[in-house]
Amino acid sequence: MWLGSQAGAGIAAAAVVGTGAVAFLLLLLLSLVAKQLLRQRRPLGFPPGPARLPLIGNIHSLASEQPHVYMKRQSERHGQIFSLDLGGISAIVLNGYDAVKECLVQQSDIFADRPPLPLFKKLTKMGGLLNSRYGRGWTEHRKLAVTSFRIFGYGQKSFECKISEESVVFLEAIDTYKGKPFDLKHLITSAVSNITNLIIFGERFTYEDTEFQHMIEIFSENIELAASAAAFLYNAFPWIGAFPFGKHQQLFKNAAEVYTFLLHLIQRASQNRKPQSPRHFIDAYLDEMGRNKNDPESTFSTENLIFSVGEIMIAGTETTTNVLRWAVLFMALYPNIQGQVHKEIDLVVGPNKTPCLEEKCKMPYTEAVIHEILRFCNIVPLGIFHATSKDTVVRGYSIPEGTTVITNLYSVHFDEKYWSNPEVFWPERFLDSSGQFVKREAFVPFSLGKRHCLGEQLARMEMFLFFTSLLQRFHLHFPSALIPDLKPKLGMTLQPHPYLICAERRC
Ligand code: HEM
Repeated sequence: MWLGSQAGAGIAAAAVVGTGAVAFLLLLLLSLVAKQLLRQRRPLGFPPGPARLPLIGNIHSLASEQPHVYMKRQSERHGQIFSLDLGGISAIVLNGYDAVKECLVQQSDIFADRPPLPLFKKLTKMGGLLNSRYGRGWTEHRKLAVTSFRIFGYGQKSFECKISEESVVFLEAIDTYKGKPFDLKHLITSAVSNITNLIIFGERFTYEDTEFQHMIEIFSENIELAASAAAFLYNAFPWIGAFPFGKHQQLFKNAAEVYTFLLHLIQRASQNRKPQSPRHFIDAYLDEMGRNKNDPESTFSTENLIFSVGEIMIAGTETTTNVLRWAVLFMALYPNIQGQVHKEIDLVVGPNKTPCLEEKCKMPYTEAVIHEILRFCNIVPLGIFHATSKDTVVRGYSIPEGTTVITNLYSVHFDEKYWSNPEVFWPERFLDSSGQFVKREAFVPFSLGKRHCLGEQLARMEMFLFFTSLLQRFHLHFPSALIPDLKPKLGMTLQPHPYLICAERRC
């Protein structure tokens, strides 16, 4: 009887504890939901935007179609500057040339920050260069990178020869396929990454270096994952990082592997280094670290060196590679355009001489084709997210400090105020009536303002030299007129789906 009553009391106590635990969990959940709903309140005077769902805001819409296309469509309804709710993260989207210029150029200081989103914080601690906040860290790293690009890259006359030498290796590798169908992606990636490698490490890697190729592949997978719905969800609810499965875990795993590999490459490149006699970016960075070693505020560190090297490498490789992959695809798709490029190359360069940058001004049609590929294909359709560093007002809207800013560069390149029939691929839009190349104001593939692409000059050299060398030697066509899917594969960058090409020697 006594035992029985004791057991009963135990059960009752367990029931009370159980109910208490459930009540506690419910309360916790309710307070989390309430906190999230509060975060989702639209700031006063903020631009309007599409309807939002509780908790996730507009994240679901970004996952349902190509985000840049969705945003352009929304701008037709809500205006060139509208807002999005990324699950409690307030964002504005800038659409069309006028809006992008008004913010990135006319208020360049205020719009030069990067948002401290949980994913970027986790991957780069907002250090390095590309993801760095707008402040001393960014200024120091950008200055060093610009100087290094000049000294070890395009500032030297011999650098053009190095790109040409890489072109020779690239063309020889293509030749081994003897006109049979193959996927060019690997060869273009290797050739393009080697140009950046020369500046960063002072050496190139062979096309058979599987370790290096693997690192580029997983890094590039992260560029794709960083724009996925999983990444947006992680930014809104970083606690999902505790789940041991999901795309965010793949992102973290890849990032850790890349970090270790880069550290190894940096150690290898800095062997036999003579302080104050830099041979490449890494030496220059280590010199800078040495000079600042007694400054506790200095932002130069081994960790930031690794982040900067990774960012410059991937920013340089992923973009230029995709431009050239689209260029090959469009040349095969439009044989008449390819024919005109062939004609210009034959006329200006001839069949045997190596193409050089000096000839660029005599090749307006080739220049126009490269520009139209950059406009039409929108390699970085939403740029890299910016953030406001102060409260500001644009077109009468109040934009608080810390707002995430999305620059819809795709919408600039399809802005009907500046481009007629933007949905048509038409290189002639970059030519005047006498066939001379003309610059177009609303051409912004490298973005605008303080954070504009640091590698623009290098990318322009590479695109021209690789593209003209390729077309000087080869005629490009799809195997048995098999036209590949033209829809881009989505990610931070837009790339074509894998496709096969036949490269037949012209001479
Ligand atoms: C056709 C090729 C390229 C395109 C279309 C491109 C495009 C862009 C765009 C749109 C941005 C974002 C700018 C912003 O935040 O507003 C950017 C930033 C950047 N790009 Fe490029 N890029 C290309 C090639 C390169 C190359 C070759 C390098 C270096 C090797 C490079 C390094 C960078 C870096 C470091 C940033 C970050 C700048 C900063 O935050 O201050 N890019 N690029």
